[in-house]
Amino acid sequence: TSIIPVITIDGPTASGKGTVAHRVADQLGFHYLDSGALYRLTALSALRRDTDLADEHALAKLAEHLQCSFQGGDIILSHENVTEAIRAEAVGNAASKIATFHAVRHALLGLQLGFRKAPGLVADGRDMGSVIFPHAVLKVFLTASVAARAERRYKQLIAKGISANMDDLLKDLQARDERDTNRTVAPLVPPEGALVLDTSEINAEQAVAQVLAWYAAASK
Ligand code: CDP
Ligand code: CDP
Repeated sequence: TSIIPVITIDGPTASGKGTVAHRVADQLGFHYLDSGALYRLTALSALRRDTDLADEHALAKLAEHLQCSFQGGDIILSHENVTEAIRAEAVGNAASKIATFHAVRHALLGLQLGFRKAPGLVADGRDMGSVIFPHAVLKVFLTASVAARAERRYKQLIAKGISANMDDLLKDLQARDERDTNRTVAPLVPPEGALVLDTSEINAEQAVAQVLAWYAAASK
């Protein structure tokens, strides 16, 4: 597997990781891992089963036995299409809470490593370059100002017909940043060797072009 290239794209919420990683994977014909979806799937399972979001052991069990599959753009959990359901802000917030548990993260490790298949993988999340794929050929850290990110989330929600409140979004985003950055297990920090790309002032297309240029240079 050492010759199967991995590109990692980490960064805070709404920095554009998903959009950029997905398009880079398409351009290169690589597989794509949305690691946040795994935390969201675990959170959704927990919410539906009324599992205590502080019960590390129970949550890790849920994570370990997650019956999920990725089919095209669809995400299936135990035969149900939950592509939309896992995007709810409530699920994202629960995901960021359960992601602070080491046992939960550990339970999702093997599943994530399994996405590395020929001809290559683009993986997005918080700890792709630091913990899961430390030997990636290219590590990107996407950032953007809190204001830019809140506005992107707002537009995404409105476009989906979900009502949103800018003040609440800003508060949620800051709380999520705070938790992701300050947790002791796999905190959100640019991994060693990462190239940092601030997307506050550029569009997704420009971000994709930069990542592809970096990859071309790194794989020479
Ligand atoms: O995955 P992550 O939460 O980091 O972000 P996302 O779900 O990809 O959402 C980013 C949103 O901002 C999308 O609607 C993009 O079209 C938009 N956007 C971007 O991704 N990159 C930019 N440089 C500018 C806007
Ligand atoms: O879309 P957004 O960037 O807000 O979140 P996401 O990438 O879908 O991930 C949801 C939550 O899972 C994040 O708030 C993180 O706390 C957690 N997560 C993580 O801890 N490690 C990852 N590799 C991916 C997500």
